[in-house]
Amino acid sequence: MDKTFKRHLITAALPYANGSVHIGHLAGVYVPADIYVRYLRLKGEDVLFICGSDEHGVPITFKAKDLGCTPQEIVDKYHAIIKDSFHRFGIGFSIYSRTSSKIHAETASEFFTKLYENNKFTEQESEQFYDPATKLFLADRYIMGTCPKCGNTKAYGDQCEKCGTTLSPEELIEPHSRLSGETPIKKATKHWYLPLDKYENWLKEWILDGHKEWKTNVYGQCKSWIDGGLRPRAVTRDLDWGVPVPLKEEKGKVLYVWFDAPIGYISNTKELLPNDWEKWWKSADTRMIHFIGKDNIVFHCVVFPSMLKAYGDGFILPENVPANEFLNLEGDKISTSGNWAVWLEEYLEQFPNQQDVMRYVLCANAPETKDNDFTWKDFQTRNNSELVAIYGNFVNRALVLTHKYFGGVVPKYNKEQLTEEDKHIIAAIPEITTNLQKCLDSFKFRDAIKEAMNLARLGNKYLTDTEPWKLFSSDPQRVAVILNLCLQICANLSIAFEPFCPFSSKKLQAILGLAEDKKEICPVSVREGKISWDMLSRTDFLKEGDKIGTPELLFSKIEDEAIQAQTDRLAAIKKANKEKEQKDAASRPLPLKPECTIEDFDKIDIRTATVIEAEAVPKTDKLLKLTIDTGVDKRVIVSGIAEYYKPEDMLGKQICILANLQPRKIRGIESNGMILMAKDASGKMKLVTPQEAITNGAIIG
Ligand code: 2FM
Ligand code: ZN
Repeated sequence: MDKTFKRHLITAALPYANGSVHIGHLAGVYVPADIYVRYLRLKGEDVLFICGSDEHGVPITFKAKDLGCTPQEIVDKYHAIIKDSFHRFGIGFSIYSRTSSKIHAETASEFFTKLYENNKFTEQESEQFYDPATKLFLADRYIMGTCPKCGNTKAYGDQCEKCGTTLSPEELIEPHSRLSGETPIKKATKHWYLPLDKYENWLKEWILDGHKEWKTNVYGQCKSWIDGGLRPRAVTRDLDWGVPVPLKEEKGKVLYVWFDAPIGYISNTKELLPNDWEKWWKSADTRMIHFIGKDNIVFHCVVFPSMLKAYGDGFILPENVPANEFLNLEGDKISTSGNWAVWLEEYLEQFPNQQDVMRYVLCANAPETKDNDFTWKDFQTRNNSELVAIYGNFVNRALVLTHKYFGGVVPKYNKEQLTEEDKHIIAAIPEITTNLQKCLDSFKFRDAIKEAMNLARLGNKYLTDTEPWKLFSSDPQRVAVILNLCLQICANLSIAFEPFCPFSSKKLQAILGLAEDKKEICPVSVREGKISWDMLSRTDFLKEGDKIGTPELLFSKIEDEAIQAQTDRLAAIKKANKEKEQKDAASRPLPLKPECTIEDFDKIDIRTATVIEAEAVPKTDKLLKLTIDTGVDKRVIVSGIAEYYKPEDMLGKQICILANLQPRKIRGIESNGMILMAKDASGKMKLVTPQEAITNGAIIG
């Protein structure tokens, strides 16, 4: 931070309230944001941490339609679930509110009105898709049809989720409205646009020249958007769910969800601090940081800043937008619809009180510079070999030995008694904590958590090298020095780990007699209490003679069975998804073969015939030997239909055959022709038969 700021306004992307939150959300946005906020609070900075549910947008209306309830019922349900999950994971928001609140509607309407009155929008009439049955304009997602690339019959007007192709509704084959099934028509409609093209030069200056320090992935995306040329963006939609467009004559139009959602950061601050919110939003002394996932970059770096700039009135812009990439799960993209996720509430049921383990793993393996993979094996290894074997083990040994040799009291020593080895340790602590701080300041949380663990490694090694348990009978004073230093390292660890693993830090601080009275794990603004970040590196803040509480394990081993249960669960989900996909594929016709001419077709002699004898071909599962009357002759055909028909099913059946197929031997029997069957995409076959009886030998064509 070159400039000094008086306060920090930290926002975390507002999650859509149409589903629960999973580890991808935590890893990408909420754990990093919470780490940063806890760090600032420990430093005694004035911090607000703003979040809430994003309760508008088309997908919420779909979910409501699918479940036969109102959008409000959907958002009420998920808002409560999401809020609770975050709280249980210790994400310490100053406020977690929602965009369906009254104060949000007022704030967003006022924002739109001011831009409208100051002529910051352009008005444009354009042709949009319209459902004549429901009399509604259709967002691209509301239109469904067949993907021209892969034949998926359930592709959306903006994307085929099967093959990933970006589409426009015009490209869909047989487009139809998801609301009524009707074919949409084009109809003229008026909307308001924010002319982003007018902000291009300003954005170049502000981001491309002024914020070269932003993360490469963020800066790169901004550059390619800006260099590609910005176009006006519609800020309104024809929809009945959202903040109504605050213009009297306009009915059935709402603010586009990406116009109102970021204003949610402002309205939630207003809700928390009705008299003071402007100090946070309109003062050059405030440093605003947006924590988001990579799919939100353009909205937070280009669109929302342009809105704030257009509004003027002293609104500040973000100082940084440390967006993360995505987290995958066991090698596959996390998918809400495919249930390919680890849901927070489910995790806590299976691993009660193990929030810190997940927070630790998600930070140590965070998708900071590229997409990353979460695996249950890695989760187990990081817990057992790092949290338990290094951090937990060191702390436990230090506490147990203090109880054993000094009755649980911080032992005394004189400076003159320090050996070179002790001095080396005392000097090594600030080296680590300085690095830790540098990493936190530059949003490199993966590196930061490694430094915190290095501090535990240092302590562990010191204890192992000095072996106080071998010295006590001969040199108790030496043991006093060692254990005093070990306890000081424990105290340092409880601070260094607090941003990452607040639950275990709190436990450790309580044992060391450093905990605050307040039980709350999520303080609202400034952190109050005995602990602060500047205590880091000190080796004298546990006072000699202070009583230490009873040792308790900070972490416990995760057994193979618990991991197996998770991988089994995922395997079952994968299997179910695959079966569903195959079922869907079966109902989908295969793509057409290349064109043929009438001359090609004329070569083929297809006729009706009747089965007069039928028997299984011995030693095969699939073959039947059928004798048929073609009207012209009686002949034998060997056919692979035993999977679908028994010999007795075939007797007397009138069928269609390819009569002029070259004879060939199958299992030693000469087969003269082929029985026509219809085969679906899954490979299942059914006989093709004339709908009414007809003479044998009738030509089909
Ligand atoms: O991508 C999302 O989940 C959005 N709901 C994020 C909105 S962030 C902010 F603008 F509100
Ligand atoms: Zn497709």
